[in-house]
Amino acid sequence: MKLCLATNNAHKVEELQALLGEKFQLQTLNEIGCFDDIPETANTFDGNSLQKAMYVWERFQIDCIADDSGLEVDTLNGEPGVFSARYAGEHGNHAKNIEKLLENLKGIENRAAQFRSVITLLIDGESHFFEGIIRGKITQERHGEKGFGYDPIFMPEGYDRTFAEMTLEEKNPISHRGLAVAKMIDFLNQA
Ligand code: IMP
Repeated sequence: MKLCLATNNAHKVEELQALLGEKFQLQTLNEIGCFDDIPETANTFDGNSLQKAMYVWERFQIDCIADDSGLEVDTLNGEPGVFSARYAGEHGNHAKNIEKLLENLKGIENRAAQFRSVITLLIDGESHFFEGIIRGKITQERHGEKGFGYDPIFMPEGYDRTFAEMTLEEKNPISHRGLAVAKMIDFLNQA
């Protein structure tokens, strides 16, 4: 089954393709001829996820999935949340986003946080939502070089390494996106 993934984030494509396996072939936006920067103007993960998937469906009538995800820090009332990618101002500047977050948490003891992912699956124009959450904490400093985004400062509960110190094979089964994808695969296998 072919599914377009409504993202320009190469890391997400790689993670999701590994999660979905051979039964599903992910097409990138460029592969379907979409070179737009898809707007994300909603203020919830669900809203943005649906907005991205609908953008593709309305223009290309192709079955697609979109993930909207981010980091929610307890003591910052869920920030950066939907602003995770542009927390420090520039979209996708991970180094600056991490710097800002570590600065905002300076001296704060409660560093509990979670990653959340909402995946929208649009099949024949009908939407289905799948959510995944992984709890953890924000470390005092960066650790590891793998992954992307806030991975170097997020340590999942029950582990003593950050996501950036894990291989994709280790991160994927426990990650927010991995959990959301597992629910989606269950759904697709039942359909
Ligand atoms: P989106 O592309 O609008 O969903 O933005 C997601 C943003 O949340 C990314 O740019 C990262 O800053 C952050 N994020 C989401 N998932 C992850 C992850 O698995 N690791 C690290 N950061 C993530």
